[in-house]
Amino acid sequence: MAYVSAKDMMVDAKQRKYAVGHFNLNNMESIRAYLLAAQDMRSPIILGVSGGTAQYMGGYRSIVGAVKPFIDHLAITVPVALHVDHGSYEQVLEAIDAGFSSVMFDGSSLPFEENLRKTEELVKICQKKGISLECEVGGIGGEEDGVVRMGEFADPEQCHRIGLLGIDMLAAGIGNIHGKYPADWPGLRFDLLEEISRVTGDLPLVLHGGSQIPEDMLVHSIALGICKINVNTECQIAFTEAVREYIEQGKDRIGSGYTPRALLAPGLEASKRVAMDKMMLFGSAGKA
Ligand code: 13P
Repeated sequence: MAYVSAKDMMVDAKQRKYAVGHFNLNNMESIRAYLLAAQDMRSPIILGVSGGTAQYMGGYRSIVGAVKPFIDHLAITVPVALHVDHGSYEQVLEAIDAGFSSVMFDGSSLPFEENLRKTEELVKICQKKGISLECEVGGIGGEEDGVVRMGEFADPEQCHRIGLLGIDMLAAGIGNIHGKYPADWPGLRFDLLEEISRVTGDLPLVLHGGSQIPEDMLVHSIALGICKINVNTECQIAFTEAVREYIEQGKDRIGSGYTPRALLAPGLEASKRVAMDKMMLFGSAGKA
């Protein structure tokens, strides 16, 4: 079974200097699109689930119930991790109970000592169950599920301390934001990434807000220790533009082109293509 924790993926990505793509699930089409993208590219993959998606798709248990049989149904053989994206402490526990193979506890908005304490508790639970754990220091800016936050720059000392707890991956703010980047975005702070990488040693680092970051910046960040890159917005835009084109060309009015599966098929293909391009760029293609 290809359903695994992200731990081994992260260890291999760190050793061989590539990044595994984390693609956010939004609906049934996204499950199919990303599983097929990973299989076609012989790439490991992490499927991310935000609180909003969990609500929309019937809760964590229903998502596990959809993804696991889907992997078998499509005869997927590459490693697939099902991962909570930006979970609260309670959401993470709920998702673990539901059968997720990987979780992110986002304690970045809590006082740091509380973030540390809760992370420490989750490390014990996750290690016992063989579930990989991502944590965050220095909130990622931008908009996600209607919540807008300004980005922060992670404190390397805090990264060092949380990294000692036995987590599997660390998301650290280095000027990255979720959603569309503004025209005057100054870019990623590579000096800070280099410092965080130095103080955290072998710990795989995570870059959120991976959409619309110039390719050379992504490649440079992988060279400096980024092992997981989260992408959502770019896939969603590609999906929606393809569906828009389908409708604008009047294809929904031809034959049975009105069926939801036919309507969304171009979106599925377009988001799959974006995911495959990212796997090539991140260097994960051919690694599974
Ligand atoms: P984007 O939507 O900006 O690609 O960010 C995705 C993300 O970081 C999910 O955690």
